[in-house]
Amino acid sequence: MSKITVSAPGKCILFGEHAVVYGHPAVAVAIDRRISVSIQPSKTGSWLLDGNELNMSKNPHISGLIKKLWPADLGAPALSIQIEGNIPRSSGLGSSAALSVAFAGALRLARGRWLTAPDSNQQQHWAEGFSSSISQTNPYDLSCGFFATTPTNELHHLNGMDAIDLDEIAILSHGAEANAQNGRASPMDSSTCAHGNIVVISNKIERNIDYLYQRNLTTHGSEISWHIHALELVQQPDDVYLVIGNTGINAPTGKQVAKLAELLRQNPMKMKEVETIGKIARRGIDALLGGDYDAVGRSMSENQLMLKSIGVSSPELEQLIKAASPTSLGAKLTGAGGGGCMVALTRNPQLTSDAIELAGGRTFITKLGTAGLTVETNDITPIWTKS
Ligand code: MEV
Repeated sequence: MSKITVSAPGKCILFGEHAVVYGHPAVAVAIDRRISVSIQPSKTGSWLLDGNELNMSKNPHISGLIKKLWPADLGAPALSIQIEGNIPRSSGLGSSAALSVAFAGALRLARGRWLTAPDSNQQQHWAEGFSSSISQTNPYDLSCGFFATTPTNELHHLNGMDAIDLDEIAILSHGAEANAQNGRASPMDSSTCAHGNIVVISNKIERNIDYLYQRNLTTHGSEISWHIHALELVQQPDDVYLVIGNTGINAPTGKQVAKLAELLRQNPMKMKEVETIGKIARRGIDALLGGDYDAVGRSMSENQLMLKSIGVSSPELEQLIKAASPTSLGAKLTGAGGGGCMVALTRNPQLTSDAIELAGGRTFITKLGTAGLTVETNDITPIWTKS
């Protein structure tokens, strides 16, 4: 029986978390921790998650993606889903985005993609799917399900990797994240987990960085627009590492994002700090592009001061950051804060890791960037292909 497995990495934010939700620049790197999702037809006829009946309302990322990519009303069969991985949950490392990316990738592989027959210019177009460039599709509205432009007549079917489109995977995963965070979510996590390596988000198109796509999200009365880029380091540094330190305290992102929104409502002057994070992120991007890791580290530490000032750090995070500082180029919380993880940029990964562990954190060492969505199985025979 066909079983499809797709994996995606977690992520760590070097600069700009929280401010990116308000449209400011940010940088994230994919880390050496992954989630893999396997799907196969369910033997019981019901949706299964790790062998148990899938509770759709308790798994909004999964149910949202099923609605978008696996239309039961068109006859798509129930599946059995298995999730494995080593990204700790609710700790700022993008576990939910990695899950969404891997699951969306598996569903897309399991159905392939329908194209229209060639038109008079010999062009074929998607007959179904979601993309930032197809304006009729709304990946963010979970009440709108599967989308097809051309329901019948001569359609052509694409299988395997040809069917995968990372813009589609990332935009659907961003929709799932936005839904889980009450509309306030940037595309940072979803794009980094989909594309891997280093992702730069900006409020403008950056001239020196490969451009991927634009995202627009209307939320809480304003439209936010982000330009997403893939940053290829001129040279992967072989003497600079990231050490991630986990406080072990769960801190759901939605709660932290809502906490900052409430602070800004009560004290609009705090928006200055959010803007300053954007400026620091911009300096950090320049430092990364120039391969100046001392300056990258300094920007990370400056970023932390601002994150503390907008109330998203915690005593436990501060303790781990303080422990890491003497042996690192810079250190800060990563992700939503309030608990979860911190990250240190260092030339002495073992020393930094030992210091964080001594201060009570659990650590791992990762390089700057790793592969994004990866198909882990050779057999990618579609499970269901009806249009
Ligand atoms: C969470 O990893 C990062 C935040 O900036 C939220 C978001 O970007 O959606 C806190």
